Amino acid sequence: MSKLKVGIIGGTGMVGQRFISLLENHPWFEVVSIAASANSAGKTYEQAAGSRWKLSAPMPDSVKNIVVRDATAHVKEICAEVDFVFCAVDMKKDEIKKLEEEYAKNETPVVSNNSAHRWTPDVPMLIPEINSEHVKVIDSQRKRLGTKNGFIAVKPNCSIQSYVPALAPLLKFGIKNVVACTYQAISGAGKNFSDWPEMLDNVIPYIGGEEEKSEQEPLKIWGSVQNGEIVKAASPLITTQCIRVPVTDGHLAAVFISFENKPSKEEILKLWENYSGEPQSLQLPSAPKQFIKYFEEDNRPQTKLDRDIENGMGITAGRLREDHLYDYKFVCLSHNTIRGAAGGAVLMAEYLKAKGYIQAK
Ligand SMILES: NC(=O)c1ccc[n+]([C@@H]2O[C@H](COP(=O)([O-])OP(=O)(O)OC[C@H]3O[C@@H](n4cnc5c(N)ncnc54)[C@H](OP(=O)(O)O)[C@@H]3O)[C@@H](O)[C@H]2O)c1
Repeated sequence: MSKLKVGIIGGTGMVGQRFISLLENHPWFEVVSIAASANSAGKTYEQAAGSRWKLSAPMPDSVKNIVVRDATAHVKEICAEVDFVFCAVDMKKDEIKKLEEEYAKNETPVVSNNSAHRWTPDVPMLIPEINSEHVKVIDSQRKRLGTKNGFIAVKPNCSIQSYVPALAPLLKFGIKNVVACTYQAISGAGKNFSDWPEMLDNVIPYIGGEEEKSEQEPLKIWGSVQNGEIVKAASPLITTQCIRVPVTDGHLAAVFISFENKPSKEEILKLWENYSGEPQSLQLPSAPKQFIKYFEEDNRPQTKLDRDIENGMGITAGRLREDHLYDYKFVCLSHNTIRGAAGGAVLMAEYLKAKGYIQAK
């Protein structure tokens, strides 16, 4: 099977670098095109990103000599050489909306990490284990855009990727209220400690826009498809506080939850242990074998020890116990730039390919 040709829009950034790294030796996808801002355009990828490379794994040789294109000025050229693109750019929301639609209208599927289209009703926002059926809306999106193959699919915010998987199998008990405090790594802001030294020995109790996303996006994930659009769920009620902590990678959440019909602790643990979705049944290359792993030890999951579980694609949970104000409390963790960003998007693309939405042009 020949590999699908992939472009990375925003390939020089933090998430873009993760894409480059995760796609090295990917069995289905091959990076053939990289785009970024006009500042990087015309340079080889090594010249544009070499001094800013933030990952511990070295830059793959296969991409070093790719000449970076201007993502906005060279849409047609990029679309002519790829089957689909991943997109993770730092631009204004309305510019990103326009840019992503342009790629889609040039018959190039866009798998996006950006928030710009998350609330467009016919754009699916996927965690493939949880709401893969939302891909159905792509048919109506294509009609709206006037495309045969082009469309946009998005990933939700990194902050929700630990607690939404843990809550999803419990919805059947009627979740009433959720309180989630997230402790978020600095890579979530595209930074490491050398370019954000103020974060050493520090905690910042504010991440712009993050709490609204963390409270609202789960409701789209749990929404239903009606007349070619996703209608968000009305419940549960979710409130959050999102806090930046001095950690390189990994977002941890402390969660409190109350139910209409309170399950036993054993029921919750069994549902977590057995929770899987289409990525597992289709054996997609990036799917974690076990989606949620629960630790019995009181001091787990720990960000540094456990973020890389299942190659950074697994969710870990621990400290599930009864609470005197809510029914239960627990902690959970996910790797923000792998499951929460590039890895989650690669899994989405694998699912979209397996279902025939992405194919060779
Ligand atoms: N970091 C995370 O954990 C995370 C998680 C989920 C979602 N996201 C989202 O992913 C996106 C990228 O985040 P990031 O952390 O990777 O940001 P970043 O490290 O700042 O990288 C931004 C990228 O956007 C490019 N860019 C900036 N202005 C551009 C323009 N006018 N035209 C084309 N490209 C332009 C940059 O190119 P140059 O190098 O040429 O400037 C760079 O490749 C954001 O929307 C963010 O919200 C991030």
